[in-house]
Amino acid sequence: MRIDILTLFPEMFTGPLSESIVKRAVAKGLAEIHIHDIRDFSKDKHQRVDDYQFGGGAGMVMMAEPVVDAIESLTSVRKYDEVIFMTPDGEQFSQSVANGLSLHENIILVCGHYKGLDERVREHFITREISIGDYVLSGGELAACVVADAVIRLLPGVLNDETSALSDSFQDGLLSAPVYTRPSEFRGWKVPDILLSGHEKNIAEWRMQQSLERTKKRRPDLLD
Ligand code: ADE
Repeated sequence: MRIDILTLFPEMFTGPLSESIVKRAVAKGLAEIHIHDIRDFSKDKHQRVDDYQFGGGAGMVMMAEPVVDAIESLTSVRKYDEVIFMTPDGEQFSQSVANGLSLHENIILVCGHYKGLDERVREHFITREISIGDYVLSGGELAACVVADAVIRLLPGVLNDETSALSDSFQDGLLSAPVYTRPSEFRGWKVPDILLSGHEKNIAEWRMQQSLERTKKRRPDLLD
């Protein structure tokens, strides 16, 4: 899978997408991440990419032309399944949206900044809009990192133990069961006996029951 990210702040991606599982996925050739600076597509001698909004009002708006030129520099070379704008008024991101995106070959993530993006780009070039939650970030960059991370870890071969993505919270609509590691007793608190029993079937049943209980208690909305 190839993910192209269009941003005014390319440096924001160096940390989050170059560590851990995402780093391994890229090193193994299972995912490609390409970061593009929208400013490189500005035709203005001062490399301007934003301007005042028509009708007045506080805040700058990202201009259509540099963003469209950046999108078209990619879509003229290969076909993209989605051109996604990261925005708080988009569709709510979820595990099921991540699952769907992980089936694509090429996607573009466009990060907004300032007051927003000229509406004509959204109307004519963006195919989907995604929000990572009901709060406003300074820009779409952190949201794009969240989406890229959640999607890349689902690609076949990325996780060492293929079943571990399947047992993630939300993957079956439930929260995960609690997990423990050594020592079996820490400051007097013991690991549940059943996990030490070696009885695979009983352990699976216990985990399912814990998952259900935890979901009922913490996120009853998931059971509706
Ligand atoms: N840009 C700013 N806030 C955002 C959010 N919550 N989700 C996606 N993109 C954003």
